[in-house]
Amino acid sequence: MTHLTIPRPDDWHLHLRDGAMLEGIAPESARHFARAIIMPNLVPPVVTGAQAAAYRERIRAVTGDSFTPLMTLYLTEETDPADVVAAHRDGIITSVKLYPAGATTNSASGVTNFDRVRPVLEAMAEAGIPLCCHGEVTDHDIDIFDREAVFIDRVLDPIRRATPGLRVVMEHITTADAVAYVQSQTENLGATITTHHLVINRNHILVGGIKPHYYCLPVAKRESHRLALVQAATSGDARFFLGTDSAPHTDDAKENACGCAGCFTATNTMSILAHVFEAEGALDKLEGFASRNGPAFYHLPVNDATITLEKTDSPVTYSAKIETSAGPITVFDPGFPLHWRVV
Ligand code: DOR
Ligand code: ZN
Repeated sequence: MTHLTIPRPDDWHLHLRDGAMLEGIAPESARHFARAIIMPNLVPPVVTGAQAAAYRERIRAVTGDSFTPLMTLYLTEETDPADVVAAHRDGIITSVKLYPAGATTNSASGVTNFDRVRPVLEAMAEAGIPLCCHGEVTDHDIDIFDREAVFIDRVLDPIRRATPGLRVVMEHITTADAVAYVQSQTENLGATITTHHLVINRNHILVGGIKPHYYCLPVAKRESHRLALVQAATSGDARFFLGTDSAPHTDDAKENACGCAGCFTATNTMSILAHVFEAEGALDKLEGFASRNGPAFYHLPVNDATITLEKTDSPVTYSAKIETSAGPITVFDPGFPLHWRVV
């Protein structure tokens, strides 16, 4: 196969930031994606419906009408259930994001005591509002490579049992444990998988010198986990769908004694995915993963517009860095030449 036409894909987990960074990087997503779930971890975070509406306008001012930002609220222990339900009813937000406090970039306002958000979760279950989970515990005694698996047992499964009907997306899963948990559940649970976690394992970060541009959270795990993610993404199972977690940080913030977590994949995600799916003999499953399974979970229509991917003899070229007025941002390097380009 040398051409693949699929409904325009969506990105079910994206960081667009704000201000100069937003202006510089939003066009990278809008070029290929029709819609994206926009993460609320700004400084300060997007915690009310009014703030989400204002942020949506700032995004639209950059991308225009061809791209639809689907907004999220940042769940805190002070979140008002009535504000969440009203923002959803009024079409301002699509979902709510749970960050365990301290789990990742700008998560300090997240949740420490999960009992305190129970009323919000119950209101969300009642109103059918999905919860997007950053699935890692933050306990200092839990090894960073185990934090996702422990989160499933100690936090996620108890929340789901205590809140029947709550629709949950496990975001950016990185382990075979998460794949197995999602596969074991019959309803109300989906998972996003990033582009970079389909490509790198922890060796890419640590062997031959530390590679800050491969550092993200949850951190990439050992190869057996990457293989489980590839298997899940390419299986055709509709519970798994694309959320790039494309998360720009300027080079000086990445290449730093305390470097920020995040891989910037908005620019080359579709080329990388085509490579990964072709290598698995599963190009026919890319449409489900990138264009159909996410809308099905979120009860939204599949996009009418299409994109075409074309296989090229010479490697696809694109900028290694996106220059923004906030500073340069390095585009994720998959470590192999790409031969699929979006026409
Ligand atoms: O690598 C990451 N970067 N993981 C996250 O959870 C947050 C994100 C960011 O906002 O930079
Ligand atoms: Zn993220």
